[in-house]
Amino acid sequence: MAKLWAGRFSKEVDETVNAFNSSIAFDGRMYRHDILGSIAHATMLGDCGIITKADSETLIKGLQEILSDLEDGRLSLDPTAEDIHMFVEAELTKRLGDVGKRLHTARSRNDQVALDVRLYLRDEIKEIQTLVYDLVDALCAMAKEHLDTIMPGYTHLQRAQPITLAHHLMAYANMLSRDYDRLTDTAKRMNYCPLGSGALAGTTYPINRQQTASLLGFTAPVANSLDGVSDRDSCVELAAALSLLMTHLSRFSEEIILWCSWEFKFIELDDAYATGSSIMPQKKNPDITELIRGKTGRVVGDLTTLLAMLKGLPLAYNKDMQEDKEAIFDAVDNVKLCLRTFTPMLRTMRVNKDKMRAAAAGGFINATDCADYLVKHGMPFRDAYKITGTLVASCIDQGLTLETLPLEQYQAMTPLFGEDIYQAISLETCVGERKSEGGPAPESVSHQIALIEAQMEAWER
Ligand code: ARG
Repeated sequence: MAKLWAGRFSKEVDETVNAFNSSIAFDGRMYRHDILGSIAHATMLGDCGIITKADSETLIKGLQEILSDLEDGRLSLDPTAEDIHMFVEAELTKRLGDVGKRLHTARSRNDQVALDVRLYLRDEIKEIQTLVYDLVDALCAMAKEHLDTIMPGYTHLQRAQPITLAHHLMAYANMLSRDYDRLTDTAKRMNYCPLGSGALAGTTYPINRQQTASLLGFTAPVANSLDGVSDRDSCVELAAALSLLMTHLSRFSEEIILWCSWEFKFIELDDAYATGSSIMPQKKNPDITELIRGKTGRVVGDLTTLLAMLKGLPLAYNKDMQEDKEAIFDAVDNVKLCLRTFTPMLRTMRVNKDKMRAAAAGGFINATDCADYLVKHGMPFRDAYKITGTLVASCIDQGLTLETLPLEQYQAMTPLFGEDIYQAISLETCVGERKSEGGPAPESVSHQIALIEAQMEAWER
């Protein structure tokens, strides 16, 4: 494809350089946003008298036709074009002749690309938020089913205190709800229009940046033209928000991988969301969750790519910045893939309540409650802790649990123990009495669900 900047040059650019320089293979996906940006620009040029109204209308019509031809497959992107901006302009000029050449008045590809990326990512953020919403919704629905499903809560991956599956799921619902809010914040800060920054130093034409900003649904124009073309904060911030979102998915994935192992067997994945082995006939593998864990590294890598690309760049535009797109698009694509697979996998997995309860019944998970029993009967906590520790050691020696240890042995330690100790250390009591705000008692978790649901209602989608 002939170069739009050919005037300054006396020979053709080497083919390898052309291919090396070209970004259409990955920025071509922004064609719609590029054209919508150009339509707003052409409208403004006409309204400000920078080009004639007639030319402005011709340009707008030409751009609309290119857009519908691309959407309907009558026109395809030219892989030899330098980038999507050059492609659209060249196609416009091919169709409109001289009028097409007027479009780029008072504009540079530098403000154009900064605009396109923001417009494109703004849409992607909305899509990702819808997917996060679905996941939070699935977590709340599942939590409502499992308010009484007792399982061990862990620290150091050692059984620690009893909780419920609902309590565990709502921990993730809270993390994801913050992820949703972080995306809202990112979109808000991103929503300033770089168009009109020009190459770096604005323009001498009497443009109206307020008009293009409002036509394209931005809050306002970016306040400084150098900043408008140089800044890639929005990509970095989005990649950071997505890295954290993926980190949450990855931690949950790791737990699901553990939970469907034979060692745990807390859950069983639906056959549609698991995979087999080519050699071991007995295998049912949690590939989805492993891939999510793996892709988390990739998305964190995308964030690192962006930061490393930017950190040494002098103002204003540098070609290094072309590298932003593959990184942020990769992050966005993979987050969407992960969410689209994770949520239905979660909705269809079966919970093995008995296994969860049995795991909670082992490991002296009620030892804190045994100590608390003594505290409630007047003993200082440190002393109660020590007595309970001694009782646990003695149970281990005798192959007993706190539930099966005879009352005489309790009372030999302190007469404060009564028959009601067994009731106090039952798993149902241990969970049911943890009614503190945020705790695992069913009424407390129901409140947590209500809080998240209220927040979901406030999320405008
Ligand atoms: N394809 C380029 C990019 O993605 C567009 C901007 C080109 N600007 C320039 N001054 N060469 O960054």
